[in-house]
Amino acid sequence: MEFLWINPLKAQVKILSLVVVVVALLSQRGVECRKAKILNSFEYNALSCRAHSASITDFGGVGDGKTSNTKAFHDAINQLSQHAGDGGAQLYVPAGKWLTGSFSLISHFTLYLHKDAVLLASQDMNEWPVIKPLPSYGRGRDAAAGRYTSLIFGTNLTDVIVTGDNGTIDGQGAFWWQNFHKGKLKYTRPYLIEIMYSDGIQISNLTLLNSPSWNVHPVYSSNILVQGITIIAPVTSPNTDGINPDSCTNTRIEDCYIVSGDDCVAVKSGWDEYGIAFGMPTKQLAIRRLTCISPYSATIALGSEMSGGIQDVRAEDITAIHTESGVRIKTAVGRGGFVKDIYVRKMTMHTMKWAFWMTGNYGSHADNHYDPKALPVIQGINYRDIVAENVSMAARLEGISGDPFTGICISNVTITMAAKAKKVPWTCTDIQGMTSGVHPPPCDLLPDQGPEKITACDFPTESLPIDTVQLKKCTYIHYL
Ligand SMILES: *[C@@H]1O[C@H](CO)[C@@H](O)[C@H](O)[C@H]1NC(C)=O
Ligand SMILES: *[C@@H]1O[C@H](CO)[C@@H](O)[C@H](O)[C@H]1NC(C)=O
Ligand SMILES: *[C@@H]1O[C@H](CO)[C@@H](O)[C@H](O)[C@H]1NC(C)=O
Ligand SMILES: *[C@@H]1O[C@H](CO)[C@@H](O)[C@H](O)[C@H]1NC(C)=O
Ligand SMILES: *[C@@H]1O[C@H](CO)[C@@H](O)[C@H](O)[C@H]1NC(C)=O
Repeated sequence: MEFLWINPLKAQVKILSLVVVVVALLSQRGVECRKAKILNSFEYNALSCRAHSASITDFGGVGDGKTSNTKAFHDAINQLSQHAGDGGAQLYVPAGKWLTGSFSLISHFTLYLHKDAVLLASQDMNEWPVIKPLPSYGRGRDAAAGRYTSLIFGTNLTDVIVTGDNGTIDGQGAFWWQNFHKGKLKYTRPYLIEIMYSDGIQISNLTLLNSPSWNVHPVYSSNILVQGITIIAPVTSPNTDGINPDSCTNTRIEDCYIVSGDDCVAVKSGWDEYGIAFGMPTKQLAIRRLTCISPYSATIALGSEMSGGIQDVRAEDITAIHTESGVRIKTAVGRGGFVKDIYVRKMTMHTMKWAFWMTGNYGSHADNHYDPKALPVIQGINYRDIVAENVSMAARLEGISGDPFTGICISNVTITMAAKAKKVPWTCTDIQGMTSGVHPPPCDLLPDQGPEKITACDFPTESLPIDTVQLKKCTYIHYL
């Protein structure tokens, strides 16, 4: 009995230890397998991190530069949208050339481009759905009817990020520019990135090439960080504006390098009667460490569409080389709205037509229904600590008759004129203000305060809410 009882126990112990060994072996293999299944992992900085990850290759994406990935992007983003309420998701685009038409982003989502990833914009018109004109513009910029949806589009989102290790988005714009010049476009050209009606946007560490039209267009949005963007387009390409914050609040644009055929940064807020009715200003905007090359346009333009108003713009550490103008205000009778509390300091310019330019008769109306009594208010424009060399004309400041531009302050500015400069360095009409320590001596409408009354023009000391946000260190881990 005893023998019979003990024997199975021994056997049981043996079996148990065997099971333990097998389980241990299996789990060890499991760890090895799991390790082998990590395809890729890296870190990056962002306003928010994501709990879920996928690669465009998981959705049939092919980076050969020929296969359309529009469906892969739609499928991937559609699938990942289930995680919006569950930690959010990040979609990785590996090295390769990823041809695609327009696709739309979702909330709590990050699109991340590898440094050798190139999103190539499709030239198949069927891959660009047409959407309505912006309500604050009333019509498209190129054509009255609709607009082609931007390559990367988003609307009504919270917390959306497009970033990368300086990966590229190539708009292949030549096709669009030709059709635009030939008047062959039925709708307004698409932008590269447009995010509408959204809160919490990061667009960073990317190179944008040859956009069909504007490059980055946040509109009707708030809490926006644009950082480390390189934008390159031929200096003769039509309307290739760099970054256009449009009816946006609390925006920070930093460390960008822009060579383009239009304004490097154009601050906007809607057009004539449509912009007045929509009534959404751009305010609380910081622009820092921007380098701009744009021989036919401005470094920073305010307008010309400014009918919802522009207020509290701070620009500093700005470099312009071979650019038409430094800061330019563009407006017209019929725009309404305002441009006020504008602060610029520490700007360096080389080879410019005009260091400062204000245009009150820009014209360019949405249609003939603008209100001729809708006069823009231009007030409180502060420029200081600026050095400019090889400049054809220091300033051309033209307000509106019966609606002068007021509160202009220019201090500590040294402009060295080009050998072939205009004889009169300043021309001023319908403006009011003062200067201090400005060379060459300004026009009579901007009297110098005299050496004993050296005044520095204002620049706000308190920071914007967007300046206090911290970037988090995020991890992307991709298992098979
Ligand atoms: C997005 O938000 C705007 C403004 O709140 C609203 O008018 C519009 O209908 C929304 N669009 C969608 C697609 O939800
Ligand atoms: C990103 O790529 C562009 C284009 O190749 C290059 O000019 C730029 O210096 C790069 N930026 C960084 C930060 O590496
Ligand atoms: C952009 O890249 C730089 C350098 O790699 C990094 O320091 C910075 O945090 C990044 N910023 C964003 C917003 O992605
Ligand atoms: C000065 O500007 C002129 C154009 O006005 C340009 O042709 C010339 O190369 C510039 N000189 C220097 C030294 O940059
Ligand atoms: C005047 O501007 C120059 C160039 O930006 C700067 O280095 C200097 O400190 C400024 N002077 C004063 C008194 O602020």
